[in-house]
Amino acid sequence: MQIQAAVLRDAAGAYTIEDVELADPGHGEVRVRVVGAGMCHTDVLPRAGAMVAPPIVTGHEGAGVVEAVGEGVTRVQPGDHVVLSFDSCGACGPCRAGEPAYCDTFLFRNLTGRRLDGSTSITDGSGAQISARWFGQSSFATHCLATERNVVKVDPSLPLEVLGPLGCGIQTGAGSILVAMKVREGSSLVVFGAGAVGLSAVMAGVVAGATTIVAVDLQQHRLDLALELGATHVLRGDDPNLVGAIQGITGGGADYSFDTTGVPAVMLSALQCLRMTGVCGYVGVQTGPLELDGLALVGKTAMGILEGGADPHTFIPHLIDLWQAGKFPFDRLVETYPLSRINEAEQSSLSGGTIKPVLIPGS
Ligand SMILES: NC(=O)c1ccc[n+]([C@@H]2O[C@H](COP(=O)([O-])OP(=O)(O)OC[C@H]3O[C@@H](n4cnc5c(N)ncnc54)[C@H](O)[C@@H]3O)[C@@H](O)[C@H]2O)c1
Ligand SMILES: [Zn+2]
Ligand SMILES: [Zn+2]
Repeated sequence: MQIQAAVLRDAAGAYTIEDVELADPGHGEVRVRVVGAGMCHTDVLPRAGAMVAPPIVTGHEGAGVVEAVGEGVTRVQPGDHVVLSFDSCGACGPCRAGEPAYCDTFLFRNLTGRRLDGSTSITDGSGAQISARWFGQSSFATHCLATERNVVKVDPSLPLEVLGPLGCGIQTGAGSILVAMKVREGSSLVVFGAGAVGLSAVMAGVVAGATTIVAVDLQQHRLDLALELGATHVLRGDDPNLVGAIQGITGGGADYSFDTTGVPAVMLSALQCLRMTGVCGYVGVQTGPLELDGLALVGKTAMGILEGGADPHTFIPHLIDLWQAGKFPFDRLVETYPLSRINEAEQSSLSGGTIKPVLIPGS
């Protein structure tokens, strides 16, 4: 069917809103009418051409209504309200162990813009193929084609546009704290980078019962929001005595640290600020090599985390429950934009003004 999508045609260029052709749902696939689509920092990756290059339709968080299902789909039916998250196979060892974020085919399914057989689901007005399986969805469009595994059915009485950003960044921040690192009650946690992922980690730290939560960023307004969301202390990332200040606040070193910046110097600080037995989680896309001296890891654990280590089918409903109970106010991070203003949303997100843009198609 014909849909409207934001197409990135050039690594350095702007998105253009185009009429394109979306394939009918194939085996295991579902077509979703997108109501709200969150923009995550990872959406800029195709601009760097790491695993996929333009032309592509990105967007890998969203919420909407199932309109049509392909053969073999049993989890959802037309009319169901769903949150879109990352794709996984359901059959490999990690998937069977309840860890779809570490699916054997995670990288191919989510970061290449293609189905496993190399095909795409969008062609443009001239019939040319456009990569469009970004995180098994490509939600910066009026409609997208997902699989039944990467849609999570939700209560139809919930406001779909509010749920639009849950599927990646927010899940990653909260899941890293609650699922991957399992932050303990009464512990200390340091979060480097107070963007959508970091602030979700701050809120999850409160849910976990951490009693000292330090947020670190370069932007004061983000640190101010961190304090409102439950951080007990904030520090500037350019503080020359950053590690010493954290050691002072935590009485010798933190129990947990979490880096969302991917900046090697910050990643190093995240290890140095830990006490022995401390655990450090890394999720930021790394911007350069990380050099560790012989003592850096002694008595400490560092883990690279994908999607918070969470299973969206259980974790997204859990986040919605926490939100409804007033314990996870992720909607405070959101600013909505019509899909037609996607370039402005991206610029505001990159410059730090908007924490979590949510794009509303058809407006
Ligand atoms: N591993 C995963 O599964 C996963 C999932 C989602 C996002 N990500 C990645 O996580 C990262 C964060 O995403 P986001 O949407 O929160 O991005 P964001 O840009 O909103 O947040 C990053 C924050 O880091 C801050 N920062 C930058 N340099 C700093 C420094 N030197 N010291 C302190 N703070 C600094 C920025 O000011 C910003 O607030 C991105 O790299 C994104 O691609 C990874
Ligand atoms: Zn798998
Ligand atoms: Zn993401």
